[in-house]
Amino acid sequence: MPQANLRLGNQSITPPLMLAPMMDVTNQAFRALVRYYGGCGLFYTEMLNSRRIPGESLKSPLWKGLGIEQDVMVQLLGDDTDALVRSMEKLLPLNPFGFDWNLGCAKKKIMCWGWGAELLTHPARVAKVLQAMRKVTSRPLTVKIRIPNEFEAAAFIKFLEIFEDEGVDAVTVHARMPKDGFKRPARWDKIVPGSKKICVFR
Ligand SMILES: Cc1cc2nc3c(=O)[nH]c(=O)nc-3n(C[C@H](O)[C@H](O)[C@H](O)COP(=O)(O)O)c2cc1C
Repeated sequence: MPQANLRLGNQSITPPLMLAPMMDVTNQAFRALVRYYGGCGLFYTEMLNSRRIPGESLKSPLWKGLGIEQDVMVQLLGDDTDALVRSMEKLLPLNPFGFDWNLGCAKKKIMCWGWGAELLTHPARVAKVLQAMRKVTSRPLTVKIRIPNEFEAAAFIKFLEIFEDEGVDAVTVHARMPKDGFKRPARWDKIVPGSKKICVFR
C-alpha cells in the first residue's frame, strides 16, 4: 500500500508516524520494542539535561544506555546556549536523526530553572539559543512547545515565526497550557485554521 511521504528537513520519515518523547518511557528498551512491532518511522529519546551531557563520561550507564540510532531524535532540555551547543556536539558522533529542543515541559521542578515551558515567555532568548543550535548541524532541528498560559493568537503566531526565522524544521505542539499539566483534554481549538506555521513540516 502506498504511504504518505513525511519529510523533516532534508530527511524522510518512513512510515510517517512518530513516537512522542516520554520521560521514563521512551528509553532504548521501549523504542526497541516499538521498532520490533513496526509502524513507527521516528523516535525520540527521553528529554536529556543539557547541563549534564557535556561532562558525561562515555563509560557512564547514562551514556551507554542512550541507544541512539539513525531513527532517533535527541531531545534536549535547558536554556543555556553553551550547554545546549556542547551537548549537540558531543551527541553528533552517535549519528542521531536530529535534535529537538524541549520548550514544553511544564513540571515545576523544570520550569523553576527557566527551562521547558518557562521559555515560552522569553522569545528573545529562544531566538538567540536557536541561532546557535542551528549552526551546529544541518540535521533536522525541531522544537516542542505548549500553548502559552496567556494565549493570544497573534502573539503566539509571532513566537512561532521565530522558529521559522531561525531555521527550525518543524514544531510539535502539545496542545495544553503549562498550567493545565496533563489534566484536561488538549485545546485543539487553539490550533486554529490559518495558523499554517503550526506543525508544518517543510
Ligand atoms: C509519562 C510522560 C512523559 C513525558 N515526557 C515528555 C518528555 O520527556 N518530553 C516531551 O517533550 N514531552 C513529554 N511528554 C509529553 C508527550 O510527549 C505528549 O506531548 C503529551 O502527552 C501530549 O499528548 P497526549 O495529549 O496524547 O497526552 C510526556 C508525557 C507523558 C505522559
